[in-house]
Amino acid sequence: MFFDKPILAIESSCDETSAAVVVGNQVLSNVIASQIDMHQKWGGIVPEAAARAHVEAILPTIEEALSLANVQLSEIEGFAVTHRPGLVGALSVGVTVAKGLSFALKKPLVGVDHLEGHLYAFLSDFPDANFPVLSLLVSGGHTELVLIHSPGKVELIGSTRDDAAGEAFDKGARLLGLGYPGGYQVQLQATQGNPKRYSLPRGLDKEQFDMSFSGLKTAVLRLVEREGASISVPDACASLQTAITDVLVGRVENAIAHYRPASVSLCGGVAANLELRTRLAVLAARESIPFVPARLDLCTDNAGMIGIAGSLKLARGEVSDLSLEVQPNSILFA
Ligand code: KG4
Ligand code: ZN
Repeated sequence: MFFDKPILAIESSCDETSAAVVVGNQVLSNVIASQIDMHQKWGGIVPEAAARAHVEAILPTIEEALSLANVQLSEIEGFAVTHRPGLVGALSVGVTVAKGLSFALKKPLVGVDHLEGHLYAFLSDFPDANFPVLSLLVSGGHTELVLIHSPGKVELIGSTRDDAAGEAFDKGARLLGLGYPGGYQVQLQATQGNPKRYSLPRGLDKEQFDMSFSGLKTAVLRLVEREGASISVPDACASLQTAITDVLVGRVENAIAHYRPASVSLCGGVAANLELRTRLAVLAARESIPFVPARLDLCTDNAGMIGIAGSLKLARGEVSDLSLEVQPNSILFA
């Protein structure tokens, strides 16, 4: 199922430059150079600046990934690179470097959809998981419920109609005066809070698989306006975290009942959330279905997950040529 020779994987779709060395399903090294400081200073992502920062970081990041894995560039037998979705300028940096290396070393290149990276990351720790795998992909830009029938065969069964779950955490955090990244700050505060203190909406609660989180941001804004200085930030964070988690866990529960998957998985940056992780583990155990989440360090954006998805593709003989294009959107579920 996996390509068992060393692959160099590159990810530069947003604000992290990352390179990894992967053999089979094993991530030997996974180096991430973050641009968070720069974007924090400028109050958001400036696409031109992001692309330039990738140009500066990419070769040192690749060198470090090779050195940590103790693998020479000449020993690399394939290249995997994120070519969609993301900022076109940022993606182009990784894709151009990967094409150059593939051409110079005469080794195969394969383009990977960033969402495939998230979805297959769990295979590093659960290579023997049974399919179909029901996966909840939750990040700053995505909230998707996916049925993975087998590697390479995915079906979208539900998604958010507006904000992503990570956005709901981040926007709520900003309104509550917490720093970035918001999800982690909300989780920290929530440990001291009462989730029943403030009532917040669970959007689209009549829907079986689709979700909505945009009402939450308005509700948190109203809460902040109403409570003023007397607001309890820990209670607000606990209420927000539980509202988001209720929606996500509820949809997974519906999908389990409808599809009876052989395994349940969780991936994307929000998968780091402890309440979400724990509640899904409990739900899966109750349903007697193995829970096979992506490991924490493979949840936020990284090249290791791109290497695992690339390894599956190269093992199937899927390769890209030098005409591989970068695309702003995913067409994984098209
Ligand atoms: O996958 P990711 O690194 O980047 C995207 O592709 O979007 O996800 C980032 C998102 C952010 O919204 C961040 O607030 C959220 O993941 N996040 C969390 C936690 N850690 C990161 N959300 C909730 N709880 C956490 N512990
Ligand atoms: Zn991501």
